[in-house]
Amino acid sequence: MYHVKEMVTLSQEPLLLRVLQIEEESFSVPWTTAEFQLAAADVRAVNLGLWRGERLAGYAIAFDEAGELHLASLAIEESHRRQGWGSHLLRQVLARAAERGCRSCRLEVRESNRPALELYRRHAFEVTGAKRRFYTSPVEDAVVMVRQLSSPCPEVDGGRPAANCNQAEKLGGKAMHRWTARRNLWPE
Ligand SMILES: CC(C)(COP(=O)(O)OP(=O)(O)OC[C@H]1O[C@@H](n2cnc3c(N)ncnc32)[C@H](O)[C@@H]1OP(=O)(O)O)[C@@H](O)C(=O)NCCC(=O)NCCS
Repeated sequence: MYHVKEMVTLSQEPLLLRVLQIEEESFSVPWTTAEFQLAAADVRAVNLGLWRGERLAGYAIAFDEAGELHLASLAIEESHRRQGWGSHLLRQVLARAAERGCRSCRLEVRESNRPALELYRRHAFEVTGAKRRFYTSPVEDAVVMVRQLSSPCPEVDGGRPAANCNQAEKLGGKAMHRWTARRNLWPE
């Protein structure tokens, strides 16, 4: 009934409208249509959706930045939260990152976002730093968290790495895309 797959039609309606709907209920500074369309067109992007039948229930947007996956957005529809779907989607993102040759996954999260902080901690992400006044509406610091993709996470992965991380890095040599700052995830 539930399945995760690439959001290949992210730039088009009706998927785009559904993503925007979940985005708006999930974040105080939601991404715009143009920003999702940029993600849809970016060859470095890993854009995954969680569907319940025909209905999108969550999504993740991430970018392969020279061998480090930057998890830019992860959201689950409010009525589906706390049922393990955020974990499921995150595991799929990490597995795809490892398949692409990424060695680590990095993210920023509001310091007050306890559900997300706890989710990432459960998935073996470690706090590596902070970014002062990173977010707006309200202004808030970001916690920076990183997970090495070759390190096992017994609690959620049964002790296995996210995937085989020994593949050659495929996109590591490509120029970094300069992403527009949104939700202050990518400072100018
Ligand atoms: C963060 C988010 C994606 C989690 O999705 P989810 O489907 O509810 O997560 P899961 O059900 O897989 O929860 C996994 C673990 O995370 C932690 N967690 C999740 N929600 C929590 C909450 N409200 N309070 C405390 N811990 C929570 C728990 O440890 C949970 O395990 P447990 O249920 O066995 O205790 C979801 O709350 C969401 O979409 N929030 C709004 C968008 C957002 O903040 N995204 C993150 C941006 S960095």
